[in-house]
Amino acid sequence: MTAARTLPGHPHIVRTGDALHVEGLSLAALAAEHGTPLFVYSKQWMLDALAAYQRGFQGRDALVCYAMKANSSLGVLRVFAEAGCGFDIVSGGELVRVLAAGADPAKVIFSGVGKTRAEMRQALAAGIACFNVESDAELEVLNAVALEEGHRAAVSIRINPNVDPKTHPYISTGLKGNKFGVAHDHALATYRHAASLPGLRVLGIDCHIGSQITEASPYLDALERVLDLVEAIEDAGIPLHHLDFGGGLGIDYNNDTPPTADALWKQLLARLDARGFGGRRLIVEPGRSLVGNAGVCVTEVLYTKPGEDKNFCIVDAAMNDLPRPAMYQAFHQIVPVASTRSALPVTYDVVGPICESGDWIGRDRELSVASGDLLAVLSAGAYCMAMASNYNTRGRAAEVLVSGDRATLIRRRETLEDQLLTERFAAA
Ligand code: LLP
Repeated sequence: MTAARTLPGHPHIVRTGDALHVEGLSLAALAAEHGTPLFVYSKQWMLDALAAYQRGFQGRDALVCYAMKANSSLGVLRVFAEAGCGFDIVSGGELVRVLAAGADPAKVIFSGVGKTRAEMRQALAAGIACFNVESDAELEVLNAVALEEGHRAAVSIRINPNVDPKTHPYISTGLKGNKFGVAHDHALATYRHAASLPGLRVLGIDCHIGSQITEASPYLDALERVLDLVEAIEDAGIPLHHLDFGGGLGIDYNNDTPPTADALWKQLLARLDARGFGGRRLIVEPGRSLVGNAGVCVTEVLYTKPGEDKNFCIVDAAMNDLPRPAMYQAFHQIVPVASTRSALPVTYDVVGPICESGDWIGRDRELSVASGDLLAVLSAGAYCMAMASNYNTRGRAAEVLVSGDRATLIRRRETLEDQLLTERFAAA
């Protein structure tokens, strides 16, 4: 019997003998049962990731609000709802989903630059904890909607601290050129405005500087900037009940070394304590770091194709399933599901069947593969299924949640009937 060994950086993915497993289950067996492309998630990885935050906040008044945009599948939301998590939502659709998964609305916060009146009404009726407001114009509208509905809406104002998170430009959000939040210099005026509106109750302050952040320093810079503002706002007679530092903590895609959640928060809490804010209620909105490395996408090799400049390994997953490489030139490790070599190693671009040169999943990867082999695309738990599309009339993949040696199909594969359901021909 060959010893089991975990993949570096992926403690819940285990190679036993010839076969790759997520927790106790073989990916080849799951693919045979459910087909490919197939997303497979480890429940234990998610719970361990959450535990790192909980350890970091031990003894503090803190709420982890899972940013469900990272993976909003009901079966994944249920894992976090059962663990007592709060949620960060960005649409009325996400609100319906998370309530369907059993979330406590009193632990839901609502972020985003473009909330509609209908979404505001829906969230007020559900009794969410707080709106993270991003502009003066939004404050006015929320005030009017709350008064119409006979509510006082709890608000926190998102500050743009103008801090460089040192990540991909598409996923940095706290620079002054980004559309997010209220400029640091304007924030006090916005707080005064909010405090004067009768339909609002000012509850907190928030900021979110970006995503896939792999260093503590941008967080520490943002923290100082936010605390400077908290002092100024409270000096102006507006007390703040909570401080929300957003999400953004990165994961290991390719030998990345982000701090663990508890190590990051040890540093941040030390600064909060030093400045006298350690006892304040804290909120965080992590997405990727709670689900990213819980997931893999299993895909079958359809063809290998030698080219003049490049060799191509054409697989049955594509940019509609795994959009991150096409959108952000993101790197995902790609490993064979069976370790026995079925061909000589060749350097391939791993690509999908979609009719675009942007449809690639990995570039210049050395693989020993032949048609019919299975590959696992790692770190596919966050921003993959949640961003999947039907481009090229491809159905969305199926998803399986593994817990120990039990698998649950949490989303069946989307059929063509599902896709055609909403469409009609024009009248003749
Ligand atoms: N809070 C707010 C207000 C956000 O905008 C985001 C993410 C989060 C929390 C969660 O951030 P996280 O902990 O997941 O980094 N699709 C991109 C990532 C977009 C992130 C958008 N905002 C990607 O695949 O890299």
